[in-house]
Amino acid sequence: MKVNDKMEIVNCSKDDFDKIITDITDFWGSNRTLHLHHPLLIHEFQDTAYVIKDGRTICAYLFGFYSQAEPIAYAHLLAVRNNYRRLGLARKLYEHFIECARKKHCLKIKAITKPTNQDSIGFHKSIGMKLIGNETIDGINVVRDYSGPGEHRVVFIKDI
Ligand SMILES: CC(C)(COP(=O)(O)OP(=O)(O)OC[C@H]1O[C@@H](n2cnc3c(N)ncnc32)[C@H](O)[C@@H]1OP(=O)(O)O)[C@@H](O)C(=O)NCCC(=O)NCCS
Repeated sequence: MKVNDKMEIVNCSKDDFDKIITDITDFWGSNRTLHLHHPLLIHEFQDTAYVIKDGRTICAYLFGFYSQAEPIAYAHLLAVRNNYRRLGLARKLYEHFIECARKKHCLKIKAITKPTNQDSIGFHKSIGMKLIGNETIDGINVVRDYSGPGEHRVVFIKDI
């Protein structure tokens, strides 16, 4: 696959969201994150729900929102369709979200991932995000119990 000029970032429509749900395994390798794809992400947070399309195919998406507690832009879900990876699409989505977040006076961008998700850890480190965990599991900094008992998470943050 190749990136072309027509592959712009647009806000995610309901139709796009439904296509993502239908093809969830092409983005994640399984449907393990289905429960995280709540429709409120596009009904109430469409401003910060972005997709990149190649013709009618959705190749990548980022669903985020602005924290109500702190001036932080939170990237909740980021995924690139399996055969569109390593083309810079995830980086492009992040750059766009950061640009929008600065206009909303956010000072930081944040994301979390499971300690086993090497793709995600590799990607987030590559864009200069710092791991803020103060415990180490298998050599990776994590925040213990971040997502509930026994649910440790890698927490990434970066000034924007
Ligand atoms: C993580 C993910 C979003 C990266 O998307 P991508 O479009 O392939 O990433 P990019 O092409 O923008 O990569 C930018 C840089 O990140 C790093 N990177 C990306 N994927 C990586 C991987 N699997 N391992 C290590 N580093 C990686 C590289 O430095 C890369 O630059 P390079 O290709 O010039 O070496 C993608 O692998 C994915 O969708 N995975 C499944 C869903 C998922 O786990 N999402 C993250 C949940 S928080």
